[in-house]
Amino acid sequence: MKATTKNQAQTERFQPFNIVVFGGDGDLSIRKILPALFHRDLDGQLNIPYNVVAITRKTPDIKGFQEKLIPFLEVSDHHKYSRAEIDKFLQKVHLIQAENSNTADYKDLSAFLNQFADYQNIYYYSTPSSAFGPITQTLKACGLVTATSKVVLEKPLGHSLASSDAINAEITQAFDEHQIYRIDHYLGKETVQNLMVLRFANNLFERAWNAENIESVQITVAESLGVEKRASYYDQSGALLDMVQNHLLQLLCLVAMEPPVLLEADEVRNEKLKVLKALRPLNKKTILKDTVKGQYTRGKSNGVQVNSYLEDIEKYDSKTETFVAIKTYVDNWRWKGVPFLLRTGKRMIKRYSEIVINFREVKHNIFPSKEKLNNNKLIIRLQPEERIELIQMTKIPGPGGYRYKPIALKLDYNDSFKERFPEAYERLIIDVIRGNQTLFMRQDELQAAWAWIESVTSSWKAANMPNVLYEAGTWGPGDDILNDDETWITKTWRE
Ligand code: BG6
Repeated sequence: MKATTKNQAQTERFQPFNIVVFGGDGDLSIRKILPALFHRDLDGQLNIPYNVVAITRKTPDIKGFQEKLIPFLEVSDHHKYSRAEIDKFLQKVHLIQAENSNTADYKDLSAFLNQFADYQNIYYYSTPSSAFGPITQTLKACGLVTATSKVVLEKPLGHSLASSDAINAEITQAFDEHQIYRIDHYLGKETVQNLMVLRFANNLFERAWNAENIESVQITVAESLGVEKRASYYDQSGALLDMVQNHLLQLLCLVAMEPPVLLEADEVRNEKLKVLKALRPLNKKTILKDTVKGQYTRGKSNGVQVNSYLEDIEKYDSKTETFVAIKTYVDNWRWKGVPFLLRTGKRMIKRYSEIVINFREVKHNIFPSKEKLNNNKLIIRLQPEERIELIQMTKIPGPGGYRYKPIALKLDYNDSFKERFPEAYERLIIDVIRGNQTLFMRQDELQAAWAWIESVTSSWKAANMPNVLYEAGTWGPGDDILNDDETWITKTWRE
């Protein structure tokens, strides 16, 4: 495959641009993409001419669209923005109708973009991936793709390796790999980026970052929300494709990868690719003991009675999982024998995401009491708060014998950095404008991720893997319904 030869990140300057959002009146665009642009503009980063074009398939109703959008611009991060600030931004936002695969329908879009012939065009596909091919062909047929155009692809990219490859083949008929930005918003989160600094700017951690010193790695993304209004999408994906295939695997890559030679897009992506290739596939022997899939039943979420998954999606025979836990290994020298535990679920007790690096116990306990010396842990909390904790054994003050207990050394992002934290999408959209692909997935990475995911889906199918039911508003499948061997799944959850 053609790899980018250099990362233009540091060199590409802000240039005037049009950002055209397909699915522009959809949820993601209104909640995340357009507010992200608004915030970057307010921060003075978009101090260049630009236009935002939201594409709708319906008859455009700019007033109704603005009414939907304004609440998401008005209040964010507990700060209320003024009407004047909002109106200034809204002047740059246009609503244009276009059907995905209808060249005649793109005439309004063409006419609009042709007024700004020297701007770079960024096409943001915030639609189901089945529309990516038709949109690309139509843009190409209308002459709207040039050497400076870029395309941003929202996940999920297909539902299998073959479908993802097929979508990619359609996109690469118009765009080169260096023009393609496969977005994973987890990579835009501050704490996730800090992982790189933590690992590669601190000698202390990197020295201990291996199987000799680390016993296990846990990556947990728990959500208290259910499937909300995305029943039909979610029921076809489930937790494995919705969260593990992208977000959790990307987190795993950042934890497990070797130091790249430079912080450049292809250097980083080459290292992530090696991790994905080293991930041990699941098979019919390991699938039953090394994975759990679950589905939520009725329960209480934040004190409110909520429906079961089946009631939420109004389809009573669905086997889709809303919880998944997987034990896997990165089969290379650095990580030999270290389990990586991945867990994610909807309708869990709370929104709670973190990476825990569990260090091994000290080799020999010199203290007379022989009380257990808890392992050191490095906890990287992604949400709700952004924080790093290093759990270390500490002497309990007082005379007499040595008594000790684990105490956390904490770095709370909010205490250390008072400024507002940009949302993940803000960082990523700016990277697209500036041509920095470091935080975006390359096609070969995506293929390797799909290949591993397919080892799970095919083994689940072969084993006819059942769902374990769990009550909404809990930590998910409990010890009572798991075999002894499987208690790793719940034992290591932290409150
Ligand atoms: C999305 C998934 O990619 O990530 C959603 O499709 C999920 O199902 C969301 O809720 C979680 O993102 P965050 O940033 O709220 O953790």
